[in-house]
Amino acid sequence: MGISEALRNYVNRVVSLVDPFINEVVQGEPKGLYDASIYLIKAGGKRLRPTFVCLATELFGGDIGRAIPAAAAIEILHNFTLIHDDVMDRDEFRRGVPTVHKVWGEPMAILAGDLLFAKSYEALLKLKDRGVPPNIVTKCVNELTWGAITVAEGQALDMSFESKWDVTLDEYLTMIYKKTAALFMVSVSLGSLVAGASERDVALMKEYAKNVGIAFQIRDDILGLIGDEETLGKPVLSDLREGKKTVLVIYALSKLGDDGVKFLKSILGRRDASLSELRRAADLITGTGAIEYSERLADEYRRRGLEALSKVDMKNKDAYKLLTELTNYLITRVK
Ligand code: IPE
Ligand code: IPE
Ligand code: MG
Ligand code: MG
Repeated sequence: MGISEALRNYVNRVVSLVDPFINEVVQGEPKGLYDASIYLIKAGGKRLRPTFVCLATELFGGDIGRAIPAAAAIEILHNFTLIHDDVMDRDEFRRGVPTVHKVWGEPMAILAGDLLFAKSYEALLKLKDRGVPPNIVTKCVNELTWGAITVAEGQALDMSFESKWDVTLDEYLTMIYKKTAALFMVSVSLGSLVAGASERDVALMKEYAKNVGIAFQIRDDILGLIGDEETLGKPVLSDLREGKKTVLVIYALSKLGDDGVKFLKSILGRRDASLSELRRAADLITGTGAIEYSERLADEYRRRGLEALSKVDMKNKDAYKLLTELTNYLITRVK
C-alpha cells in the first residue's frame, strides 16, 4: 500500500517533532481529565494535518522547527473535534481503541474536548517563542478561529441532514467543505503564513487544501461503506445506521427504483437496524455504481487541488513533490 519511503520518513520526522510538543502542552491536573484528553492522541492517527503544516512551510522556504507549535495546534484541535464527533455519531471505537466517551462517559468526553480546544490555542501562541512575528501570530489565530467555527457549522449541517431526505450534492459538498476541508485549509495556511508566504500564495494554498479536503472526505465516506474495520480502526456502516447523507447515499437514492428507495429509507437512520440489514443496504448502494461515481468525484477534486498548488510561487521542489504524492495518496488510501 503505497507511499514512498521519502514521504514515510517525512511524516515520521513530523511526528517526532510534533508529538513531544503536544504531550508537553496537554499535561496537568486533575489526572482523570488529562488522561481522557491525551488518550486519543496517544492512540495514533495519521497526523496528516501537522504534515500539511510542515510541508506548506517548507514549500515556501520556511523552517519546520518554527512551524511546530502550529502543527501541534491543528492536531490538538482535530482531536477535540474527533472526541465530540464520536459522541454525536454514537461511535464506539476509533484508531483501533474504544472512544473517549465509551471509556470515561459522555460528560468527561465533552470536557476533554473543551480542554483540547483551549489547549490548541495555548500551543499556537507558542509560535511567539520560536520567533514568529506578532502580526503573523495574529493571522494564525484568526485562521484557527475560522477553522473551529467552520467545523462546528459543518457538523451542525451533517447532523441536520440525518433527518432530511432531499439533501443535494451541493449541500453535501458544502457540509464536507465545512466539517473536514476547513481544517486542511487552516493547516496549509498556518504553514504558509509562518514561512512568510505572500497573500496570493496563502490563498492558492487554501484553494488547494479545500479541494483536497473535499476529496479526502469523499474517500472517508467510501471507506465508511466498503472499508475494512480492522484496517480503518473505526466502524464501517455506522454512517447508514446514523442516517448520514453521504455522496454514496445521495447518488443511490437518485438511481434506485421505488422499491429500492423504500428499502433504503427503511434502514437509513434506524439505530436498531441489524448488521444483515445494514449489509443489504450497503449492497444496494454499491449496486448503483455509487462507489465508482464517488471515486470519480474525489479524483476531480484532487485534480482541482493540484491545479491550484501548481500555481504557487514555490521555493522547495522536494516539498512540492511530497505534497503532490500525499494528495494522490489521500484519494486511494484504505485507512
Ligand atoms: C478523521 O480524520 C475525520 C475526518 C475528517 C474524516 P483522519 O482520517 O485524518 O483521522 P486520524 O487523525 O488519522 O485518526
Ligand atoms: C469528520 O466527521 C469531521 C469531523 C470529525 C469534524 P465524520 O464523522 O465523517 O468522520 P469519522 O468517519 O467519524 O472519522
Ligand atoms: Mg464520525
Ligand atoms: Mg461525524
